[in-house]
Amino acid sequence: MAENVIKLTLDGTELEIPKGATLLDAANQAGVDIPVICYHEATTPNGLCRICVVDVDGGRVLQPACVAECQADSKVETRNERVERSRRTILEMLNASVNLDEAPEIQQMMGDYAADEARFPDAHLREHTLIDDNPFYVRDYEQCVLCWRCVQVCAEDAQYTFALTLKNRGHETSVATAFDIAMTDSPCVFCGQCIGVCPTGALKPKAQWGMEQGWSADEMRQKTRRGKKRKSGEGDGD
Ligand code: SF4
Ligand code: FES
Repeated sequence: MAENVIKLTLDGTELEIPKGATLLDAANQAGVDIPVICYHEATTPNGLCRICVVDVDGGRVLQPACVAECQADSKVETRNERVERSRRTILEMLNASVNLDEAPEIQQMMGDYAADEARFPDAHLREHTLIDDNPFYVRDYEQCVLCWRCVQVCAEDAQYTFALTLKNRGHETSVATAFDIAMTDSPCVFCGQCIGVCPTGALKPKAQWGMEQGWSADEMRQKTRRGKKRKSGEGDGD
């Protein structure tokens, strides 16, 4: 076996995998599906949500597959009772604090792991006012699972714009512009990459949102247009 390759057993199947590969890489190689929320192939994994945890050698703590490296000769179980219980609890906690109505993948996980929507009856959903401060997209942080993907694509992972950060702590934590300024006053270039990686309905193109609100064609034109108001007879080009 080559020096830079290790062997491990994943769900009973022996695998050879390059040193430094993550447990998620190993699962992908074996064709085993592991659920992810904060992980996205276009962003740097930070192991934030913990939905991807797996059992390595029955260790005391489950390992987040998206960031934990494969260990030589280890035995990995990607879905045993411990793993299921952990994923179910994470989903139940998320559901208790975030509006997941427009997060179909997470809803599917809720069903797959038999998550109880009423597990935490005293919890309360995060409350945020929808932010509509630019012609291109709206932000509804009541639907945000704080996966950090939008912040990362806006920063070193893609755009190098750094328009987004976090504000507040704990239950009040939210993605925001620095000092909470309007998006139009921030460095945002409206590339749309944040919308592309968002796993929920937290970030939505303005036109899609407008259609959901039942805007007329005229309203759509007015509200999704950049720049100053035109006098009648002026061209449409911006
Ligand atoms: S807005 Fe979307 S991409 Fe950004 S942290 Fe929230 S859920 Fe993740
Ligand atoms: S997907 Fe691995 S920690 Fe979120």
